Parts: sequence; C-alpha cells; structure tokens
Amino acid sequence: MEILQFKLTNVGRFSNIELPLAPTDEKKSKVTVLVGNNGAGKTFLLKSLATSLSWFVARVRSEKGNGSPIQEDDIKNGQNAAAIKISLKHNAYLHRWIIAKTRTGRKNEQSSQLNDATKLAEHFRSELSKDEQTSLPLIVFYPVERVVLDIPLKIRDKHSFQQLDGYDNALNQGVDFRRFFEWFREREDAENETGIPIEAVEKLYKSFINDPKALLGLQEMHALMRDRQLSAVRAAISAFMPGFSNLRVRRKPRLYMSVDKHGESLNVGQLSQGEKSLMALVGDIARRLAMMNPSLENPLHGDGIILIDEVDLHLHPKWQRTLIARLTSTFPNCQFILTTHSPLVISDSKDVLCYLLDDGEISVVDDLYGLDANSVLLQVMDTDIRNVDVDMRLRALLNTIQDGELDKAKDLLAELSKDLPENNIELIKARLLLRKQELRHAQDR
Ligand SMILES: Nc1ncnc2c1ncn2[C@@H]1O[C@H](COP(=O)(O)OP(=O)(O)OP(=O)(O)O)[C@@H](O)[C@H]1O
Ligand SMILES: [Mg+2]
Repeated sequence: MEILQFKLTNVGRFSNIELPLAPTDEKKSKVTVLVGNNGAGKTFLLKSLATSLSWFVARVRSEKGNGSPIQEDDIKNGQNAAAIKISLKHNAYLHRWIIAKTRTGRKNEQSSQLNDATKLAEHFRSELSKDEQTSLPLIVFYPVERVVLDIPLKIRDKHSFQQLDGYDNALNQGVDFRRFFEWFREREDAENETGIPIEAVEKLYKSFINDPKALLGLQEMHALMRDRQLSAVRAAISAFMPGFSNLRVRRKPRLYMSVDKHGESLNVGQLSQGEKSLMALVGDIARRLAMMNPSLENPLHGDGIILIDEVDLHLHPKWQRTLIARLTSTFPNCQFILTTHSPLVISDSKDVLCYLLDDGEISVVDDLYGLDANSVLLQVMDTDIRNVDVDMRLRALLNTIQDGELDKAKDLLAELSKDLPENNIELIKARLLLRKQELRHAQDR
C-alpha cells in the first residue's frame, strides 16, 4: 500500500497544499523527507496523514470503526473548516478519501467522504475471514514524544497477539517498550515451552502428509523451531545496530530484557538514550510487521506506511548518516515519510524526495546526494555553518590578504589566533595564503 499524494486545506498554517509522496517518476525510493525551521509545519503534515489513515485502520478493526477527527485547534486560524484529502494505491487500485472538520456553529462547507476507506478496509476484513494468516499493511506514526522507554519488571496480563493487534496504539502513541517486552516474552515462552512454534508443527505436518518419506532435513527443522517473528525482530536490530545481537528476555534473578553488545551481555535499561531509542523504534516496527505478516517467510518484507517525526532524535551523526539506507534495506516494502533537522540524514541518500517547508510554502530540494553536511546546512537549512562573528572576521582576513594589505592582515590573523584553536583549518589556510602573498610582494620589490 502506498500513499500517492495528499492535500491539506486550512490545516495548521497551510491554506492549500498538495504533496505527492515518493516513489514518484523522478524519485524512485519509497522515502519522503520533510525539512524546515521550527514551526514550519512538518509535524502537522505527519499528524494530518495519521489522522487520515486512522479511519482506514479503525475500519479494518471493526466495520463501523471511527478514526480520529481533525481537532478544532488544528483548523487554520480565521478559517471555518479544514480538510485532508488522501489518495492511495493498493494492488494497482486507487483509493481516495476526505476527512473534514467545520468549526462548531459554522456552516458546513465540506463533509468527510470515507467510502473508499471503508471499502479498502472491507477488502482486508474479508481476506482475513477467508484466511487467518493473511497479511495486513502496517500503518504507524512515531511522534516526537515517542521516547517512553521504561521496561517494566512485572507484566500485568497475558495478551494474545494477532495480526490486528499490530495496529494497537499505532497512530496515537508510537513506541511502547512495555508492549514490545510483553510480546517478546510471550513469543519466547511459546518458543521455549513447546520447543516448536505452532506454525512449524503445521508445516512439518503438511510436508509429511504430502510425502511421508520426505521428512524435513534436520537443519531445516532446527530453523523452524526458532520463532520466525522473534528472528525477524532480532535481525532488524542487528541490521541497524551492528555489534548488537541476541536480544532476549532473562528470567533470573528477575525479569529483564538483555542484549549482547560486542559480546558483552547488558540489561537493555543500561543502554544509552540513543541506543535505546533506536532499538525501541526498530524493534517496534519489526514487531508490528512480524505480527501483521504471520505467513511471510521474512516478515520484515511486509507492506506498510511508516511516519516518523524527527527521525534523527538522539542519534549519533554516524547513525544519522546511514539511517535512511538502513530503513529502506531492512524494511524494503514500507513507504516512509520522515521529518528531520539533521543535514546528515538527507545528504547521504539517493533518490529520496525531499521537501523544504518555509513559511507555509513548500518546495522540492533537488540533488542532495553526496553533498557534505555543511552545504546542506547552507543551501537547505538556511543555517550558517559557523559562528557568525568568526565567519565575518575570517572573511575580512581573507579579503585583506587578497587586497595585499598585509600588515592589517597580520593584525587580524593575530586577533583570530587568540580566539581559535591552533589547528583551526581556516586559520591554517589563511596563514599559508598570507605567507604566499608576502613572498610574492618580496619578489616584486
Ligand atoms: N490553527 C492554526 N492556524 C494557523 N497556524 C497554526 C495553527 N496551529 C498551529 N499553527 C502554526 O503551525 C506551527 C506548528 O507547526 P509544526 O508543529 O508542524 O512545526 P514543525 O515544523 O514540526 O516544527 P518543529 O521543527 O519545531 O517540530 C506553529 O508554529 C504555528 O505557527
Ligand atoms: Mg515538529
């Protein structure tokens, strides 16, 4: 399932905008990134998509389900009504729906039209009725407030986790380590207690019925004994966090979740903020995909739409740089709509559709691939790459050198040398340039 485009009318600061999302004819990846200043409207765009998609999700869960309405505060100030239109593609069919909201006491200008959302949801419900192993599309929104990372020591109830539970809190809360932990423990218990997960038993049985002589090889049987869903989550975490492996629930001396980091076994609670938040994000996506695609050989190849606000949150630059590549290779069939403040996230990804939001206007940013972070800061994020004062003094210094005012240049250089470290690259360059100019002047005399 893929969002083709969406249109906002009088939502937040936007009067009327229409955004196609990747993949498009020009940008083949499934990733759209929104950048822009604080208050530019990035979160509003994601929130609007989540609001719109929530109606489809609610109606997959139950026939007459209701998604979230547009909040009255989110109608553009001074306007009577707001609307979000979305068009999506699923199996080559086009679906469009509108969710609208009019201020109380005002005349209704536009009403919601949700027929297509209902029909699309009905399609999945009837598939699910025919075959309980049917895959469902993942739809999830990770807002900035997603960093709820406490891992509970006790688990309250036993849950049963089915495909539909993959939509639990998917559009209103985001990462929930508690659920992750509960789910993980539940699957592990099943894996440990019965030895063989139920799907594996079924597969074994079927192969035996088809051909009684051809019992599965020992190795294949062993692979089947490992829970495919847990393996998928572990694989996703290792793909994002090299050096981390063997995520598991420990039961002694008390219940906790542990992971090996470069061979050392750690309580997940002991990890750094960045490590925890990446693990929670990736683990949550993988867990949901695993739940929603019970019959896929590799559940990480499940279909879905994933919205992440400030995807660089807490991440080290090294991880920021490779984030999009890892997302797209680990979850190849998911469409991503991301926001970021980090030049590193967008400078290292080919074929990503990047929108710059500025004062309610939106433009496409072209060809970021291969640009260094400074150029992205300068060209896209409209930010000085260094402190403004230092920048002015450096420029003045270079100008005086070029103009041959060497005594003045020496003074400026001496002043700057007091404030900047000895190995500052710009100072070193300026010194070399000054030296060259001095030599040239000496020859000319
Ligand atoms: N009802 C409204 N009418 C007009 N403008 C609004 C309304 N509600 C919010 N805004 C504007 O939208 C902005 C908030 O947008 P949003 O939260 O999407 O920004 P953002 O790009 O995510 O910023 P940040 O990078 O700080 O998270 C506010 O600064 C305000 O100017
Ligand atoms: Mg925001």
